[in-house]
Amino acid sequence: MPKTIIEPFRIKSVEPIRVTTREERLRLLEEAKLNVFKLRAEDVLLDWLTDSGTGAMSAEQWAAILRGDESYAGAPSFYRLQAVVREITGMPHLIPTHQGRAAEHVLFGAACKSGQIVPNNSHFDTTRANLEYLGVEALDLVIAEGLQPALIHPFKGNIDLARLEDLLQREGERIPFGMLTVTNNTGGGQPVSMANIRATSELLHRYGKPLVMDVCRFAENAMFIKQREPGYAEHTPMQIAQEMFGYADAATMSAKKDGMVNIGGFIVLRDERWLEPVQQMLILREGFPTYGGLAGRDLEALAVGLREGLNEDYLRYRLRTAEYLGEKLDALGIGFVKPTGGHAVYIDARTVLPEMPVAHYPAWALCNALYVEGGIRGVEVGSVMFGKRLADGSETYHSMELVRLAFPRRMYTQSHFDYAAEAIAEVRAMAASIRGVRIVKQPTRLRHFSCECEWLD
Ligand code: F0G
Repeated sequence: MPKTIIEPFRIKSVEPIRVTTREERLRLLEEAKLNVFKLRAEDVLLDWLTDSGTGAMSAEQWAAILRGDESYAGAPSFYRLQAVVREITGMPHLIPTHQGRAAEHVLFGAACKSGQIVPNNSHFDTTRANLEYLGVEALDLVIAEGLQPALIHPFKGNIDLARLEDLLQREGERIPFGMLTVTNNTGGGQPVSMANIRATSELLHRYGKPLVMDVCRFAENAMFIKQREPGYAEHTPMQIAQEMFGYADAATMSAKKDGMVNIGGFIVLRDERWLEPVQQMLILREGFPTYGGLAGRDLEALAVGLREGLNEDYLRYRLRTAEYLGEKLDALGIGFVKPTGGHAVYIDARTVLPEMPVAHYPAWALCNALYVEGGIRGVEVGSVMFGKRLADGSETYHSMELVRLAFPRRMYTQSHFDYAAEAIAEVRAMAASIRGVRIVKQPTRLRHFSCECEWLD
């Protein structure tokens, strides 16, 4: 049996990508003020900015779209989605939203209040922002191994149970619930083990606290458990997902990831404790409870996508994709967050540009170079994203300088990854000539999305 793990699909509809020259890309990037967020997507060859909402839907999903029932209340599309969600999660109450952050907004509005603390392995940006908006402290308690990029550990997304217990003992009164993000995007797309999910659930329940999971990438997490955790090799991803959800009391989902759709999200609740306020807030912000923030056709595509996202052949190929690029980077001696996560590879820019001072934003510089040399768009996760300019003009910097290459689902083939590895090798060979940048214009918050830069000489 040949060993190559192939894309387990064939291509029925294609979307051409425009091949550009280096000269064109340099001009386009300069017009975009050296900020890849300002590029037009059609000027990008491999668009690896995010895996969120960017994947390809299957023929079955497109077929389901036609079945979408757009009734305001009680549409069959809702009940079809509810049946699938109930099968996977075992939770009876499905509340559809237009995407993940809307689910967070609606649930947190019902379940927390100012002055409280919500622990998590690592909060994603929007989760943190939605909690902080309500005056709630978002606390990250990932295990120490999860913060060391080069260290290999099978479940770097695990929460530190000792620190969680200590927090519950000291601040129990202030904790409305605990969270786990599977996989841990902020920590490199790293999985959480079943043992850790089970222990977190037991610990929280001992203190009378519910477990809320952020499950955007639950299927990828389930496959990591199958591959890495003793006792799960013979389980299907569906069975593993069912066990994972079995430990949770509620979950928020951005269906734009493992839901295999371009838009969508939901909340699921095991019991009625937050149901009434959640439904009230849903009607106010999103829509009637049987469609939330979505069209009937979106509910149909998601009902099909959730099952496809749990397909074992698909997941084996999916995780192999990131691992494959990781092996190529290893061969080049380029550092990245190890082992590779489910949806992305996070390159350690300091291993490509060791001489560049952090004040010149090496991860941003690498991101720009990947676009100019290879037409690849990644995202900087470094001091432009997390640093700040202070009132006196000085800057704070981030502890890591990473470039995230996140892979849309079912979009790119192995030759795209071979091409990317070659482009990265070329960038590394010319590292001495890569220029850093200075930020000449920036907003007060979330500066990476819109800042304008100039080359440093
Ligand atoms: N939680 C996690 C772990 C996420 O990665 C995201 C989105 C969200 C919640 C919010 O979901 O975008 O549907 O509102 N992550 C995207 C990314 C944006 O690029 O990693 P959303």
